[in-house]
This record gives sequence, structure tokens and C-alpha cells, in this order.
Amino acid sequence: MACDDPEALEDLGRSNPAPGTTLGAMIEARLSRRFALLAGAAALLAGGAEGSAAAPVAHSSGNTPGAGPSTLTFPELRHQLAEGDAVAEGHRIQVLLRWGDPILAEAPDFDAGRQSVEAQSRQFGYNNDFLNFFPLPRGSRASDHGLLVVNHEYTGAAQMFPGLGGGSANARRQRVSAEQARIEMAAHGGSVVEVRREGADWHYVKDSRYNRRITAMTPIRLSGPAAGHAKMQTSADPTGRQVLGMLNNCAGGDTPWGTVLTCEENTNYYFGGAAAESGPQAAHYKRYGIGREAAWSWPKHEARFNLDREPNEPNRFGWVVEYDPYDPTSMPVKRTALGRFKHEGCTHAVCPDGRVAFYSGDDERFEYLYKFVTNRPFVPNDPAANRDLLDGGVLHVARFEANGTLRWLRLVQGEGPLTPENGFHSQADVVIEARRAGDLVGATPMDRPEDVETNRANGRVYVMLTNNSRRTAEQVNAANPRPRNLHGHVVEIIPPGAGTEAVDHAAAEARWGIFLAAGKPGVDAGAQYHRATSENGWLSCPDNCAFDSKGRIWIATDGADDAAGIADGLYAADTDGAGRALTRCFYQAPVGAEVCGPCFTPDDTTVFLSIQHPGEGEASYEQPTTRWPDFDEGMPPRPSVIAITKIGGGPVG
Ligand code: FEO
Ligand code: CA
Ligand code: CA
Repeated sequence: MACDDPEALEDLGRSNPAPGTTLGAMIEARLSRRFALLAGAAALLAGGAEGSAAAPVAHSSGNTPGAGPSTLTFPELRHQLAEGDAVAEGHRIQVLLRWGDPILAEAPDFDAGRQSVEAQSRQFGYNNDFLNFFPLPRGSRASDHGLLVVNHEYTGAAQMFPGLGGGSANARRQRVSAEQARIEMAAHGGSVVEVRREGADWHYVKDSRYNRRITAMTPIRLSGPAAGHAKMQTSADPTGRQVLGMLNNCAGGDTPWGTVLTCEENTNYYFGGAAAESGPQAAHYKRYGIGREAAWSWPKHEARFNLDREPNEPNRFGWVVEYDPYDPTSMPVKRTALGRFKHEGCTHAVCPDGRVAFYSGDDERFEYLYKFVTNRPFVPNDPAANRDLLDGGVLHVARFEANGTLRWLRLVQGEGPLTPENGFHSQADVVIEARRAGDLVGATPMDRPEDVETNRANGRVYVMLTNNSRRTAEQVNAANPRPRNLHGHVVEIIPPGAGTEAVDHAAAEARWGIFLAAGKPGVDAGAQYHRATSENGWLSCPDNCAFDSKGRIWIATDGADDAAGIADGLYAADTDGAGRALTRCFYQAPVGAEVCGPCFTPDDTTVFLSIQHPGEGEASYEQPTTRWPDFDEGMPPRPSVIAITKIGGGPVG
């Protein structure tokens, strides 16, 4: 159950069993939903709505080597849906950071029954998502010491707080008190935490001078074309240049000059008011999914989240945020030149001429894929020269042609339809309403673009398209070929020069193809992998991904439990050679959790994972479906970051 899914937010109500639901009953309910989904898929296949039938299943493994032609040699894990997590044999899971862990000086130990704003502001936040490892010392390739940058995407009130009663998750969210709402704000944002490996064991360094919390209350500078614009001004900030906090930071990325990028995604859910339907920005709000009723209770408790009090506050969220993880005093900056939408993440690629391209997906059904290219080249070893590189450049949106060409369309004020007649008076208007600009230039509506990552080994770019249950047979296009796409797919982009030293990520065109189509081979219509993919190797709902230094893709999933009746997990596959797209199951999360943020140390000996919202969607604080990772009767389930290593050492996988 992902926060990024408005339907899921509704579904939290419709599918939420009564408190006291057992894990067994819940799994049974999910399996019967799965049966209904399969019946739908079979009907599609019979009706010929799909282009091709699923690939045959050659291997059936499960804790047997059976790697086929894959270069990955770990014994494949079996699919499961359980209270605990599991990893491929020969590997070890360590819980490194849990919601509530004290990370700043004077932070109290976590006490679930006595949460406070002050404590949460100094403790590890809720729902860890994106992870990035920055070695210590800075500039080194250290793999046993570094800073872990972590996003805290959102809060799950029903699992966080006792006493919210029954009903849907949305209904329980509305019951949080003003004090609890402030705790939720303190649990959002991000953390920077010093981590160290001693022998085989990872631990975090409490009170490190590097440790930092960013919350929904932290001052953040606005820069780029939208900074200072009238639509960015509020009564608390008449300059339109400084905002309090960042919200719903999902995935992220980094820059070649050593800063981190953290991306605001579903910021629409925090705002509400009558102006959503009747105010002067009603059409704009609607295009961005902002409605009269917020999913969070915050507009009731804090005026800035109420559209009728502060109509411009939502325009100050939905951006890519940059900061220096090595300097806890540095003020984060929202870089508006990269556009405003539901950014999943942001990945960079350096072009042959030194300019830098940044790819970012807008994670919503029928939304677009974007690329920003800096105007100036990045200058190695000159922080001052790169400081504001993200304020000048060209934003593009993707159009996938059926002939395999990807055209990057420029979103520049004054060009094509982006004129004053259409409401685009300046580049500020273009970036604030990037979605509407994309509509007008003819971008391709995608099946929820999640993570986009660059594979340095082959110069290609991989786009996770997580699912789109609402696409009809009439709405399919070449890059999104399945109606009612429950399991998602992965698109592979091949820029000019891919496979050489000079990959041109700034080019106006590239080639594209489908790397895999998720779902169960032989069962889910259109599922497509390497033909040797095993009964445990298939996946559902790709969300985040990472590449190890050999260029193999590691895909984390979000939503496989609902879509396919299996736990979310981490899967690995070669991207080239005989084992291309032969996915293998490596890790399975506890029930209710999604897997995010896969992140390798430079030497590949550790992969960090974010295990987000364990136990979400079912039951309550009092009667959770799992108490992972503590399994202590006094503890609710806690979103946590884990470190996976190979027993005896060596690269993971
Ligand atoms: Fe927050 Fe798109 O996942
Ligand atoms: Ca995500
Ligand atoms: Ca997701």
C-alpha cells in the first residue's frame, strides 16, 4: 500500500479489515483478491487485448542455485508473505536504523507511548525511503565508513499512534491531535547519519557532528526561475524565497559535485480547502491532485496547509531539493528549474561536454518522464563553480514514438505552445505548472514513472513504471502497452553513444525499448522476462533500482502484496549478456512493507535497503500485523534501514 497512490489512500478505507485481523486472515484476503486479479488478466488474454503471451517458465527453484546463464550466483530466495523478512542464503540482514532511534545530541531513547515533537525532531524519522551512501572521508571510496542520507517520506498515523480507533487509515489520520500532527511533521523530511562497519557489523554513530534532521519545519531556500514569483509568496514569506520544510521526500539522487538531491513527491495530500474547487487556482490545483479534503489532518491544525488561508503554499512543494550532506549547517535549496511535479527521484549523468543531465519521473498515473540539462558544464574540484549549476538549464519532457525513438521536448517559455496566451508568461509559470506544459507539447502519458537510474556500465537509463490499473485498452501506447497494468514494467533508454566513453545524455533524441514487463510469467498477460526466469524470480510493481559496479540491476518493489499476493522484495538481473532480464529473488520484506532505496557501498560488499511501512494498511497500533523488526509486545512495527552483507565477506550477490 503505497502513499503515492491516491487510489490506495482510498483503498486503505475500503480494504481495511476490522482491528484484530490475524496475519493468516489477511493473507487469505490478499490471495482471494489475487485470484480476482488473475481472473481479469485471463479474460484479457482470451480477448486478445495483449500483444504477446507470457514467456515459458523453464526453471523452478527456491533456495537452489539454478542461476541459469545469470552472472549472479546467490541461491534464489522463495517468494513469501510473512511477519519477518528474509534474504538469500549466505547473506545476513542487520537492522541499522529504526524509526525513533536517537541520532542527535540529547535525543531521548524511543518511547512509543510518549512521543513528542522535541524527541522526534532529534530522532530518526518515519518511513525511510531513499538512501545514499557518502564515504568518509569526503572524496574517498571508503566502504566501511560514511554518511547515510535517508528520506522520511510520510507518516502512517494508524501504526504510529495508539488510540486512533477503527475505520479507514484516512479516517484515523483525520483523528490525529494538533500535537500528533506536529510529531508527524517532525517525522517527515530526512536524516543524515554517520555509519561505520567494524568487522562484520554495521552501526550508526550517535551524536556524530555530521548527524542531521531535516523536517517539515526546517527553513529551505527557493532558487531558480520560480523563486520570488508572485505564485510563490505567502503571508509568512512575502519574498517567495524561503519555505518551511520539505514534504513526502520519496527517492533522490546525487550530483557529480558531491551534493545530494532529495525529491518531493505526493505533496498534494497535505493541503485542503474550499479554494480547491472555487478559488482562482482551482484548475491548477486539480491538475496537481489537490482537493478540498487533505489526506492528512494538517490544514485543521496549521493555517499554511489551508488553501483558503494560504493559496500559494502548495506551489512551494513538489520540487527537487539539494543540500550538502557533509555540512549539517548548510541550508537546503529547492531547485525550481527542474520543474514541479511528483518527483520520485532524480538521477544524473555527465555528458561528453561536461554538462549534466538529470532524469526524473512524475509518479502518477498517465504522468510524464522529464530530463533537465544544465546550461553550463560541471567543473571538477571547484565547488563554487557548481554551486548554482541547477538554477540554469533546459527542462525537457519525454515523447516515446512507436518506432523506438524517444524525443525530448523542450519546456521553455515562449517556445511552441508555452506562450502568454496559454498562461505561460515566464519560465516560472512553466516550472510551477510543468504538468500542463507537458500536456501542451504532447508528452507520452506513462504508467507511473518511479525511479529512473543510469547504468554506468552500459550508458543506458532505466525507468521503473510501477503500475497503472486505470489504463484502458484504448489508452495503450507503445511504451505503455498493457491495459490495466497491475504489475508495471521497466523501460530502457539508449542515448546516443551508449556503450562508449561518450554517452550523449543531452541529445534531443534517444532510442528506447522495454527491458521487462512484470507479473507472473504464464499467468499475467504480457509478462516478459528472460525465458529462464524461475517461479520465484518474477516480480511485481518495480519502484526503485540501483546498479552494482558490474552493471547488474537491483529492483525494489512496492505493491507486490496487493497486486500479486507476495511480499515486496529486491530482485537482481544482468542487463547485458546471456542472463539479461533474468531476474532473481534476493530479499523479501515483512508483510505490509515496501522495499526502497537500494544503495551499494563503493565496493559492493554491503547493500543498504529501506524497509518502509511494515504492517501498513491492515490493523492498527494496538493490533499490528507484524512487530518487525523488534518483535517486542511493547513496540509497534518500525520502518527501518537494514544492511545486507555476505557472510564471510565479498560482494553481495
Ligand atoms: Fe513514493 Fe513513487 O513512491
Ligand atoms: Ca518510491
Ligand atoms: Ca511507490
